[in-house]
Amino acid sequence: MKRVILSLFALSVVAIGSAAPQASDKEALRNANKLIKQMTLREKLGQLEQFITRNGVVTGPEGVKCDIDSAVRKGEVGSFLSIRNRNEALRLQKMAVEESRLGIPLIFGYDIIHGCKIIFPENLAISCSWNIDAVERSARIAAEESAASAIHWTFSPMCDISVDPRWSRVSEGAGEDPYLGSKIAAAMVRGYQGDDLAKSNTIAACVKHFAAYGAVQAGKDYNTVDMSELMFRDIYLPPYKAALDAGAVTVMSSFNDFMGVPASGNKWLLYDLLRKELGFKGFVVSDWKAVNEMIIHGVAADGRDAAELAMKAHLNMDMLGGDYIAHGEELVRTGRISEKLIDELCREVLVVKYQLGLFEDPYRYGKQNLSEVYYRPENMQFARELAAESMVLLKNNGVLPLAEGTKIALIGPFADSKIDQLGAWRGLGEAKRSVTFRTALEERFGKENVLYTKACECGRYKNGLIEGGIEEAVKIAEQSDVVLLSIGLSGWHSGESRSRASISIPEDQQQLLDALKQTGKKIVVLLSTGRPMDIRNEVEKADAVLLTWHAGTMAGPAVADLVSGDKNPSGHLTMSFPYSVGQVPVHYNSKNTGRPAKSQFKAQGYSCSYVDIRNAPLFPFGYGLSYTEFEYSDLKVLTPEVPLGGVVKVSVKVKNVGKRDGVDVAQLYVRDIVAETTRPVRELKGFERLSLKAGEVKVVEFEIPTSDLAYCHSDMSVKADAGDFYVWVGADSNAKLKGQFKIK
Ligand code: NOJ
Repeated sequence: MKRVILSLFALSVVAIGSAAPQASDKEALRNANKLIKQMTLREKLGQLEQFITRNGVVTGPEGVKCDIDSAVRKGEVGSFLSIRNRNEALRLQKMAVEESRLGIPLIFGYDIIHGCKIIFPENLAISCSWNIDAVERSARIAAEESAASAIHWTFSPMCDISVDPRWSRVSEGAGEDPYLGSKIAAAMVRGYQGDDLAKSNTIAACVKHFAAYGAVQAGKDYNTVDMSELMFRDIYLPPYKAALDAGAVTVMSSFNDFMGVPASGNKWLLYDLLRKELGFKGFVVSDWKAVNEMIIHGVAADGRDAAELAMKAHLNMDMLGGDYIAHGEELVRTGRISEKLIDELCREVLVVKYQLGLFEDPYRYGKQNLSEVYYRPENMQFARELAAESMVLLKNNGVLPLAEGTKIALIGPFADSKIDQLGAWRGLGEAKRSVTFRTALEERFGKENVLYTKACECGRYKNGLIEGGIEEAVKIAEQSDVVLLSIGLSGWHSGESRSRASISIPEDQQQLLDALKQTGKKIVVLLSTGRPMDIRNEVEKADAVLLTWHAGTMAGPAVADLVSGDKNPSGHLTMSFPYSVGQVPVHYNSKNTGRPAKSQFKAQGYSCSYVDIRNAPLFPFGYGLSYTEFEYSDLKVLTPEVPLGGVVKVSVKVKNVGKRDGVDVAQLYVRDIVAETTRPVRELKGFERLSLKAGEVKVVEFEIPTSDLAYCHSDMSVKADAGDFYVWVGADSNAKLKGQFKIK
């Protein structure tokens, strides 16, 4: 999408993203081929196995006992994950390079998911900024800090679309939409890998979890995934593909089975689709022991079988299971696996090591002066801005922004919790560097104007009301002008393996809210969470709700910026908030069905709806408020008829009709009215962040290539075809301004 903004004040043209790296592919391949000729089978298998360190002590892959130092010296180790200590990484690298027969360098991988030292908001939160340049910059900063820490490779971006907030890993993704998800996935790859993977401040990206991990049934982590290929191609595949097109050099196979076959042994996924169809040339690492887990899935009798399945599916690197190194030689000796296949798997790993420049200088990562790279002031400032842009104002009865000198009662388990605001994946981040809501509000409003109490606990180990917590909360509320109530779920509740059947606010926090409501004071809920929650009761009771997410190291200053009005909220949801958990999955791009409900807001029978609650979510995809108001008008379809292969052009006028400057996200949705297979009622196909001064008007022009309107047909081909389309533009997925165009 190319977007042109015509402002009454200025004219600006927004550039499109840059091309993928990988300039030295051919040379890397030549070098890898030469090297393989000199390698023994065992050395090749070593390149395909990833080991871990635990508590500073190096151990072999789980389940396999070995003396790692001597394995490294023998050239039987290809990679380590999760080495947090740069000196240890450099020690191992030195051993591999200087003491092994062929001196093949190691590649160090780590989960740098939303920041390395500076922790940015969780990924779902960042996506709510709809700021693609900022997404890229956050990944760039994470890459610089990682590279300096001797980490060459991050297991990110997570490109899994999900529509189920019970699944805790929604915090790591970009929400429910494939179009936005694709833009974000590609931006992250560009941020990590830069324009040259061999630079000492760029790192390899890893597209995960391939594939469809976000569709685990019932929102239970690791659960079965079973869906039509049509749904997969239309909704789930695009972000992975976008990340690959942006040049990502590695992919991680997912834990789940997919249409009956675990991803790590799924040849259709890892070879036919990934390599033959999508043209991927890098290497695939399994998720944690996922090769070995094929025994438990029930498709392999033992480790030998599991290794054979994975190798035949073209999975290059076994994360921790140890089955490749344990059984690889026997598999080749008995003819179950050809050495030619091992060569291919090994070559793809070596090529990435060459691309990273590790052969040229194995110590190029980790040489930098850490104090010059970590926590750079300009990066901390950026983290503060990104955190503010990620937060979403869900409700405001006029209580926000707070006037100067307002006396604040700051209450709740996350208001002064350095650890929780960092979320689930904390990279090499340090809680001690977090600036909390309390610290930042005290600084902004004056210490004497902020009364604080925690009132209850919420986390991994401690939960529930603190003795006397409610009484103290009520007492300070009564002494204040407004209550800022920080409730929701903790950082520990996000990320892997934290699925929940209930996504409501914990009961003790509800009691706290009820007690505070009795004081008659205005209540602003600061909602801490890594997932959409079932919060309709809390929204009704509160005067304002600011969704703060787990916004990272600089969460506190960002909250202070927004509640004070120093900055105007601009985040828009990228995942619908359900009206009730019973609606899940609820997402904007559903299908019409043969019996659509007459109203999305009323319960009704004999239509695709519930008889007890409405269909509409509490807050739809794209939703977000500001302290100003924007008015959309004059939608013009500039190209009412476009040939296939052409570009649809639509313009709309947006005016800031309020009294403050602000930023809105203009969103364009389409609907293919009659197609060969059923299409969603709306699909996002363009968006633009617009900064408008009070009173300013801009004309936004959207350009949609007809190739962006491609969809999966019943023969599984993905193509656009002729027909009529509706188009809407507005500030969320319920946008009202409507037009129509035709593809001929
Ligand atoms: C398991 C997680 O599913 C994956 O996302 C992560 O990258 C690996 N563990 C490595 O820590």
